Amino acid sequence: MRWGFLDNKLVQVVDVQHAYAGESAGDSWVLCGISLTVHQGEFVAIHGRSGTGKSTLLHIVGGILAPRRGRVLIGGQDLFQLGDRALSHFRNRTLGFVFQNYYLAPSLTALENVMVPALLSGEPVHRARHRAMDALDQVGLAAKAKARPGDLSGGQMQRVAIARALVNHPALLLADEPTGNLDEQTGGEIMDLLASYQRARGLTILMATHDPSVELHATSQLYLIGGKLQAGTGAVESAAN
Ligand SMILES: Nc1ncnc2c1ncn2[C@@H]1O[C@H](COP(=O)(O)OP(=O)(O)OP(=O)(O)O)[C@@H](O)[C@H]1O
Ligand SMILES: [Mg+2]
Repeated sequence: MRWGFLDNKLVQVVDVQHAYAGESAGDSWVLCGISLTVHQGEFVAIHGRSGTGKSTLLHIVGGILAPRRGRVLIGGQDLFQLGDRALSHFRNRTLGFVFQNYYLAPSLTALENVMVPALLSGEPVHRARHRAMDALDQVGLAAKAKARPGDLSGGQMQRVAIARALVNHPALLLADEPTGNLDEQTGGEIMDLLASYQRARGLTILMATHDPSVELHATSQLYLIGGKLQAGTGAVESAAN
């Protein structure tokens, strides 16, 4: 889906601050004022040491976690102004999320895992199955459609997770270390695959990663240090924007 809104700003993160419940104020803020704009079609990589808050930031941008302070707008829609049902619906239509640990349902086959978002979007079963098969085919896993996650390798599970994230043709893909558990070659293949979606479909990608091969593809590289984003190029903005 291509979005036609003002200035092509797909993601606007405005002065987001977050501390987890149970932590007291002060030093325990994980995110200390993050402002970021991602334009349609960009591939933004977020680097940072373990525990700096990359997953926290992606979960907030994905509407999975509400920040203590600040706003997140996707296509102009303020995520946390939506009620639970409307937010779920918006996420299902607009966002794909590849989680750090895949989060595949172990009792479902690869195909069934990929079908879930399509079914939730209201597709009839036969159409959801067709779309899920197509998505699995595109990540090179059609032959494993009937396998359950326990019978797949890490790279194969990662591909299923990517197919599930892309089955509804989201405007935005949030990917949390999608190559983190993979060997260099498999990781490189996953990175190439995601970059090909970005180029061919105008998919916008916000990715947390430690993987240096992202440099080949990312349009901006940012660094999360001490709860703040530091720029490689372009995307970090002041809270005023
Ligand atoms: N649910 C939670 N409850 C309390 N603290 C949490 C929770 N999730 C994360 N944290 C803490 O927040 C900080 C940031 O965690 P986060 O998972 O966002 O880091 P990360 O940059 O993704 O790390 P990694 O590279 O290891 O995945 C860490 O100190 C972590 O312990
Ligand atoms: Mg993480």
